[in-house]
Amino acid sequence: MTLRRALGRTGLDVSAVGMGTWRTFDVSGPEATAHAAALVAEAVASGTNFFDSSPMYGRAEQVLGDALAPRRDEVVVATKVWAKTAEEGRAQVERALAWYGGRVELYQIHNLVAWPEHLALLEGHLEAGAVGAIGATHWDPAAFGELERVMRTGRITAVQVPYNPLEREVEERILPLADELGLGVVVMRPFGEGGLTARTPAGFDPSRYRDFGVTTWAQALLTWVLSDPRCHCVIPATSRSGRPSENAAAGDPPFFGPHERDEIAALATAP
Ligand SMILES: NC(=O)c1ccc[n+]([C@@H]2O[C@H](COP(=O)([O-])OP(=O)(O)OC[C@H]3O[C@@H](n4cnc5c(N)ncnc54)[C@H](OP(=O)(O)O)[C@@H]3O)[C@@H](O)[C@H]2O)c1
Repeated sequence: MTLRRALGRTGLDVSAVGMGTWRTFDVSGPEATAHAAALVAEAVASGTNFFDSSPMYGRAEQVLGDALAPRRDEVVVATKVWAKTAEEGRAQVERALAWYGGRVELYQIHNLVAWPEHLALLEGHLEAGAVGAIGATHWDPAAFGELERVMRTGRITAVQVPYNPLEREVEERILPLADELGLGVVVMRPFGEGGLTARTPAGFDPSRYRDFGVTTWAQALLTWVLSDPRCHCVIPATSRSGRPSENAAAGDPPFFGPHERDEIAALATAP
């Protein structure tokens, strides 16, 4: 997959398909961590260069750091601060910087928790060069009003939000505003935490989408997200070998037009 999508004003040149680590990288023991490293190696070999984590994901941040260590210069790390107090946030950032070789390309404020405190801390790291860009994330449409306010401060350059055929609230205000402000958009939960990929819809005929390089239902869902030009990078999580490359292959254009988007959305939302 070509690396062609700069993440908005952050200027980060990221692959269209990245990788999330919630649940899948919260593992321990030599076998499980070696498996996580193999997933990362497969993803990188397939062109994926963007990896997302958070202190909210248990051991995932550290497991990802270990897996990325041999190829740290080839990838973009997007992690988060998720803490009620400035002090706890400071400790989280110090730990993560140590795990990621002293720098994090995109530091995000998870669920907007204590965002004024963390924003000030991250701006200090930005100035010092340990952080490349600052973002904010939220999964809940009820918080999108607050996310909009943070976006309008001019102090962040990327957002991370959910977007899939069952969760389209970002189309109303977040994606238009991100576009207007030139912010990078990272899309979480492209498979609705696996609910959308639990079964392939009976009516899905991959041969209809061959010209888009789509051969599986999961690729159709990723291509659906990337067909919105306001979305720069989509970050599916997987625990299974073979899927990082399957997912990465969806990052190559051409992407869907309105007609194919409607077809995929109809299949995904059919009872
Ligand atoms: N900031 C936030 O509030 C927030 C919230 C949620 C998520 N996130 C981020 O976004 C990432 C992605 O979201 P998510 O993990 O919730 O859900 P997701 O990526 O929508 O779905 C993950 C599920 O999809 C399955 N899957 C992956 N590739 C597949 C494929 N090719 N074919 C079929 N099934 C496939 C996985 O199963 P297998 O493991 O069996 O492959 C897993 O159960 C997270 O890991 C995290 O980094 C952020």
